[in-house]
Amino acid sequence: MSSILVVGSGLGGLLAAVRAADAGHRVVLVTKSVLPESNTRYAQGGIAAALFRDDSVDAHMLDTLRAGAGLCDLAAVRVLCAEGPARVRDLIRFGVDFDRDESGVARGLEAAHSRSRVVHAGGDATGAVIEAALVATVRRRAAIEVREHTMLVDLNVDATGAVRGVRVLGPNGVQLALSADAVILATGGAGALYTHTTNPSVATGDGVAAAWRAGASVTDLEFYQFHPTALAVPGTPLVSEAVRGEGAVLRNHSGERFMLAEHPDAELAPRDVVARAIARQMELQGGAPVLLDATALGRTLLETRFPTITAACRVAGLDWAVDPIPVAPAAHYWMGGVATDAWARTSLPGLYAVGETARTGAHGANRLASNSLLEAAVFADRAVRALGQPWPASAAAPSDTATRSTHLSSPRVERRELQQLLWDFAGVHRSGVGLVHAAGALDEWAAPPATSRSVAALEDRNLLDLARLLVSAALAREESRGAHYRSDFADTRPELAHSRSHSRHRTTRHPEL
Ligand code: SIN
Repeated sequence: MSSILVVGSGLGGLLAAVRAADAGHRVVLVTKSVLPESNTRYAQGGIAAALFRDDSVDAHMLDTLRAGAGLCDLAAVRVLCAEGPARVRDLIRFGVDFDRDESGVARGLEAAHSRSRVVHAGGDATGAVIEAALVATVRRRAAIEVREHTMLVDLNVDATGAVRGVRVLGPNGVQLALSADAVILATGGAGALYTHTTNPSVATGDGVAAAWRAGASVTDLEFYQFHPTALAVPGTPLVSEAVRGEGAVLRNHSGERFMLAEHPDAELAPRDVVARAIARQMELQGGAPVLLDATALGRTLLETRFPTITAACRVAGLDWAVDPIPVAPAAHYWMGGVATDAWARTSLPGLYAVGETARTGAHGANRLASNSLLEAAVFADRAVRALGQPWPASAAAPSDTATRSTHLSSPRVERRELQQLLWDFAGVHRSGVGLVHAAGALDEWAAPPATSRSVAALEDRNLLDLARLLVSAALAREESRGAHYRSDFADTRPELAHSRSHSRHRTTRHPEL
């Protein structure tokens, strides 16, 4: 039996905690907010897996590889698609009640899937249903100690480069060290880097930032996926791709279905294609959002299949059964993250990363819709199975705890300005000139100190580190591929079909961890 520290309480963190407890480990699970709050809770469309007779692991792999635009790690994709069905069945055993129709478990179609394979729960409340089932399961495990309102500050790394625990900010505003035999990072993504995001406010990339500061390799940071259709109202709630899967169409202000001219799959083209086409239409119409027309689907289907979106529309004073609704792209999912192998192991012994925090290589340059919950489940399970196994030879180096030097007179980073900077210059459309400008502006700011007693200040410290890394990775990639589009390098360059890893010590071409 060993002591395992899990950081984060989305699907990846909760499942890792349960699995580790069931394997006989002592588990401490820390989470920045309350246990149920996470990106998982807001996932709508569902979870993709080859569960049906007319589907296959190979077909799911092919769709995943195609969406990944040449940057997927084949072994990670194979693991994801082959082990996915078993992990979905595990979720059913943990109490997730997937929606059913006359043919059995119901399934939806989403962009870039060659067949309907996305299972969902509560209509469009899949993430909330999964989160609730796993939270209840965690609460039933006596071997799991839950610490809410406890934020990861940094990793504790010993002289050999191995991770021995973490430093956290507790609910009383005091920082303390927690030691463990292994740390599993599951802190989710970093939608808070951008002005418009579908993520909840807790998504500030704490795990990726702390891992990078500790010397872990981080990979593919330039690839941030923008969901094409967030409701263009304050809070930018997600309007699931499944709505387009059911037949809703996009229209510009003249009422034209502009996606017909953009891609043979029109509204169900890959996510990056639809997001860029919407952004272009918005420019043409003076920045106004485009319209998602779901009126042909009828009120009954909209209200039963999509109760979450129906409620969000209602709050915004919209009736989508009657009128098209305004939608615009928003930051949604980070393909990049802490580099891991197929067992969720990072370049630092003792440190695992799962879910959006990790870069497993399963998503490449552009994640296939509804592969994210699946990835979290598959690799959380693998991380726990790998506990106690010898660490593979790695490029781990002793941690360099020096912080970036800034002038004493530098102004403290201002979150809203940082978000606008990234939205304008490192968002859906990028250019070398814009990225150079963003890098310069980011360099002017100073980060709050690591000793801060404020969650917001420590989040700002993480966001500044991550913004610098993302912008520098986007500048280095002189091509357009998947979610990364540069107007000055609009073509995909076959010779650049490889990932780049960065650590505080060096930049390498992946797959060297
Ligand atoms: C959606 O429901 O459109 C989001 C699903 C996903 O991001 O995988």
